[in-house]
Amino acid sequence: MPNNVLILDFGSQYTQLIARRVRELNIYSEIYPYNKIPKNLDSFGGLILSGSPFSVRDHNSPRIDLLKLFNNFPVLAVCYGAQLVAQEMGGSVVSSNIREYGRANLNLNNKKSILFKDVKNKSQVWMSHSDTIKKLPNKSTLLASTDDVENVAFKYYENVYCLQFHPEVYHTTFGEKILENFLINICNLKQIWTPASFIDEAVNKLKSEIKNDKVILGLSGGVDSSVAAAILNKSIGKNLYCVFVNNGLLRKNEFNDVLNQYKKMDLNVIGVDYSEDFYKNLKGIIDPEIKRKIIGRVFIESFEKESKKIKNVKWLAQGTIYPDVIESISATGGPSSTIKSHHNVGGLPEKMKLKVIEPLKLLFKDEVRKVGGFLGIDKSILGRHPFPGPGLGIRILDEINLENINILQEVDDIFISGLKEEGLYDKIWQAGAILLPVKSVGVMGDERTYEKCVALRAVESTDGMTADWVNLPYNFLQDISNKIINRVKGVNRVVYDISSKPPATIEWE
Ligand code: XMP
Repeated sequence: MPNNVLILDFGSQYTQLIARRVRELNIYSEIYPYNKIPKNLDSFGGLILSGSPFSVRDHNSPRIDLLKLFNNFPVLAVCYGAQLVAQEMGGSVVSSNIREYGRANLNLNNKKSILFKDVKNKSQVWMSHSDTIKKLPNKSTLLASTDDVENVAFKYYENVYCLQFHPEVYHTTFGEKILENFLINICNLKQIWTPASFIDEAVNKLKSEIKNDKVILGLSGGVDSSVAAAILNKSIGKNLYCVFVNNGLLRKNEFNDVLNQYKKMDLNVIGVDYSEDFYKNLKGIIDPEIKRKIIGRVFIESFEKESKKIKNVKWLAQGTIYPDVIESISATGGPSSTIKSHHNVGGLPEKMKLKVIEPLKLLFKDEVRKVGGFLGIDKSILGRHPFPGPGLGIRILDEINLENINILQEVDDIFISGLKEEGLYDKIWQAGAILLPVKSVGVMGDERTYEKCVALRAVESTDGMTADWVNLPYNFLQDISNKIINRVKGVNRVVYDISSKPPATIEWE
């Protein structure tokens, strides 16, 4: 019996959330753009149609051959999906006098409907639409309304369920229950997708694909590359060669600390120090884009040099995760500045004639963490904040030299250790310090000083695409600022960055 869920994306901002909510119910789901429907429909046991920024009344809005799909499995159509079903099957959709954005309360018309089993009447649902379904298609049964909108939930024939509201968002109180009712009671799917089952399946697949070949993988100290390494290690053991390059732009003690963690994981890891090469190439460079390019190039050169020492390598493993894959096949193009975890190795596979293997490409970040936990990876790696490939290089807004690196490492260490000691680190998405190209006058003891200024940045985010600064307690900032100025020679001023993204970015360069 097929046990996967197909999600067709019409470009809604919530599509990834649908996939995650389905997977949280331990059922595997995959997103496809509406215009790239997979051929193997018989491997799916249910279909969900997403919302969309388009209106079904637009001539160029996304369309699909619904009837062809309806024969295969039960369908849940959300928002735009529901309007599409209504319009294409002979009902009508009109621009609404009353827009519904945000909360509304559900009036259940049909208390026996399986979709709304154990859902409370009058419970809150989350709306986001300006069109409304005026007339239902023939053979439809109305299931629910709100005070403002009549046709909020309906069933078309026996197996097509349509919802004007979003069951996937957390503000829909019984959203999870509705999804569960659809997946388990209507599609008859089984809740068997777990980190353990993913690992078993992935290990078998990796074993049969790689056989006795050798694989290299660039470790960065981050979550994705570490979990990719752990799962490959479980699959092919010592045929996995991990290379961890020290670019001299890591955090204080990071190279050795992380290397020790990797050794504890029993990885076949080669730690190599190329700091001098990076420093030599970066000497005198201030322009951020040139810095980035140099850091990227020297990384590839050093990784290539080390990889060539390992004979007969056939594969390059990468820690690509599902959001990267979705962006690259997105129907609507997707945001242009996606964060790619280790695209530092871009160009290498062709140059070295390597095949690429991406063991995590079906997982979301939180699933990567869960899988990592199952594989016994230490919390210090799994809970790490994201850290950019060019490292402190793009947080020194000045020339990258040893003096500046040492200052920034010390400042960053005081800040990050402080966050950990106060239990704040795990509540924050990303934090770090930035060395500004500014000197200012200060007074220490009876002496006038003229020293450097550092900025502290801490942000909340879910994916790095948007972010807001964290409201850190004043007494914490006071304490950290004191420690930095007292302990780090050369710094006499600390500022806290209170800019959101957009319009600012997380990194300063
Ligand atoms: P921005 O500064 O664009 O950063 O708001 C968003 C996220 O991406 C990380 N970042 C990078 N990661 N190489 C990377 O591997 C890079 O060149 C790079 N630039 C930014 C940044 O730390 C944040 O998490």
